[in-house]
Amino acid sequence: MKAVICTKYGNPDVLKFREVKKPIPKVDEVLVKIHATAVTASDCVIRGLNVPGGHQFPIKQLMKFGMRLFIGFTKPRNPIIGLVFSGVIEATGKNIETFKEGDEVFGFTGISRGTYAEYKCVPIKEIKAGEMTLKPSNASHQEAVAIVYGGVLAIHFMKNANIKKGQKVLVYGASGAIGTIALQLAKHYEAEVTAVCSTKNFELVASLGSDKMIDYTRKGAANQLEQYDFIFDAVGKNKTSNLKEACKESLTQDGKYVSVDDEFLKIKSHYLPKLRDLFETETIQAVIDKTYPLENIVEAHEYVEKGHKKGNVLIKVV
Ligand SMILES: NC(=O)c1ccc[n+]([C@@H]2O[C@H](COP(=O)([O-])OP(=O)(O)OC[C@H]3O[C@@H](n4cnc5c(N)ncnc54)[C@H](OP(=O)(O)O)[C@@H]3O)[C@@H](O)[C@H]2O)c1
Repeated sequence: MKAVICTKYGNPDVLKFREVKKPIPKVDEVLVKIHATAVTASDCVIRGLNVPGGHQFPIKQLMKFGMRLFIGFTKPRNPIIGLVFSGVIEATGKNIETFKEGDEVFGFTGISRGTYAEYKCVPIKEIKAGEMTLKPSNASHQEAVAIVYGGVLAIHFMKNANIKKGQKVLVYGASGAIGTIALQLAKHYEAEVTAVCSTKNFELVASLGSDKMIDYTRKGAANQLEQYDFIFDAVGKNKTSNLKEACKESLTQDGKYVSVDDEFLKIKSHYLPKLRDLFETETIQAVIDKTYPLENIVEAHEYVEKGHKKGNVLIKVV
């Protein structure tokens, strides 16, 4: 099968498009024919062994060592990286009862990765952990894969926000993969939403429902801040601005500030079904910036690494 191998940690050109052996499912695995995957910010972190979270020496060096222990010393232990997928089940092991051949599924693989390929075996353990389920029936594979990463992270980090009708919510980084879903979720809860992004993305975030927009690059942007019941930093601690610092002082008395880097994501079994419902009921829509073929993965990583994608960058496998 065709796949992309991460030959070592480094710049995007460490990724090589190759022919590798097609996996054969074991008794407790399903074989998924992947139709679409995405280049996520996390894929760039893994490929480049970049420590997320804005840490400095010596924490950064310790975390890098920890990452090597966790994902592989000189290169990823599973050399096929990639976290999200949408595809069709091609075969099932004899212990699999919940899925059958032909089922259309989407998923977020957690630590196993392996989605930059034509096929991936998904073990029952990962299915039970909530890492794969039936994709939304009204979504194309590209739409399904475009909601997974941002959707799972937005659901996870907004779960305790308890947003109520009429409350003021600010989404910092509203035009990215996580921000575009967070903004739509906050509108779903009938909040008044302020989206923070650069002016070129105002039209996009307005189309997703934002009531107000602030450009974090503009001088004096902090003067536009109000008092918010919930502020969600959807771009993470590596990216900051004067506005972001000012946000932390712009909460109501009971207001909450949550960063997408506050803790490591732990996927729960209800996240993907919830995401499917949100898409099927047209509560959220997929935001797709660019789509590349698998063989152009280096170009896709170079684009994502610039840090200004709108929503999601996809890889069409089939
Ligand atoms: N906790 C976990 O387990 C976990 C897991 C995965 C990811 N994460 C975090 O999630 C982040 C990725 O989120 P993502 O994929 O949604 O990001 P993304 O799509 O790469 O975000 C791109 C957007 O960020 C905006 N942006 C860039 N720099 C900014 C700044 N200084 N201030 C405000 N906005 C800025 C850009 O808007 P403009 O183009 O308008 O500038 C762009 O639209 C990672 O970097 C990581 O920190 C956490």
